[in-house]
Amino acid sequence: MTIDLRSDTVTKPTPAMRAAILDAEVGDDVYGEDPTVAALEAKVADLFGFEAALFTPTGVMANHIALRMLVGPGQELIADADAHILAHEDAGLSWHGGIQTRTTLTANGLLTADDVSRLIRPQVPHTLGTTAVELENTHNRGGGSVYPLEQLQAIRAVADDRGVAVHIDGARIWNAHVATGTPLREYGAVADTLSVCLSKGLGAPVGSVALLRAQDRPRAVLMRHRLGGGWRQAGLLAAAGVYALDHPVARLAEDHANARLLAERLQAAGLAARTPATNIVLVDVPDAPALAARAAGHNVRISAFGPKLVRLVTHLDVTEKDCLLAAEVLARAA
Ligand SMILES: Cc1ncc(COP(=O)(O)O)c(C=O)c1O
Repeated sequence: MTIDLRSDTVTKPTPAMRAAILDAEVGDDVYGEDPTVAALEAKVADLFGFEAALFTPTGVMANHIALRMLVGPGQELIADADAHILAHEDAGLSWHGGIQTRTTLTANGLLTADDVSRLIRPQVPHTLGTTAVELENTHNRGGGSVYPLEQLQAIRAVADDRGVAVHIDGARIWNAHVATGTPLREYGAVADTLSVCLSKGLGAPVGSVALLRAQDRPRAVLMRHRLGGGWRQAGLLAAAGVYALDHPVARLAEDHANARLLAERLQAAGLAARTPATNIVLVDVPDAPALAARAAGHNVRISAFGPKLVRLVTHLDVTEKDCLLAAEVLARAA
């Protein structure tokens, strides 16, 4: 049996989730007629206190649609240098959004209010002022790091003061919520747009949601269609999201405990594992691809996240026992 720690996207829907998919009431969502999609969008909007929501196939598409509601072609967006939108979305924002970014290196991927204040360019002749800032919570390349709510609120205050919008990439915001106890609506309150994924810690096979201002939704629907994301009986997939949200997201605490256990075991074996805040363990190693290949040979799959960095992600489909076994295999392979 393989223990797959490459990502929390590798989970397979449970029999109960599959049953919910089978039972879903559907219609043609391009005509705006899918009741299950509408129910999912209303549910997620309500959870975060947003006016509107749009169901999308992927987190990348949710990020791009949301950001393009805030930032036009040739306009500037601030993000940390390791943001998912820059590191792992194939330059889509600049390719099809014409968006320029201004970045800075940060500790664990988290921008401070001072960073944002320093990076915002004022609009003067020959300088197009900054339009928006993007924050990732939790932060993937930061090892699942979590923004303290006060840090987000301080950034919001700077953004308001300087007339700049805020987007949160909340692919794993559920993990931030469970790790800190911060209500989802508090996260919603600091963002103009927010993207969330159903296909990571929550275990749905597919799907993300972009949270939006009501006035932007028609434009967002158009953008999704333009990107080829108009989907028909998408309620089959929305049903998996509704099912996931009808079950306590508090379960994610188990993934966090498993990640901590994994890191502790690796540290005890002399590996440079960073202590995780949520479900992502980063380990500094001399040769990441070689370690990943050796571990795969012993049925433990991990991601080479850089030449000297590996990533291990805990999720619904790995148990405490799997993590203990994986730590042993990795310690030997290293
Ligand atoms: C922080 C973050 N944002 C966005 C995404 C994109 O999600 P998707 O793979 O569904 O496009 C990911 C995927 O891992 C992610 O980690």
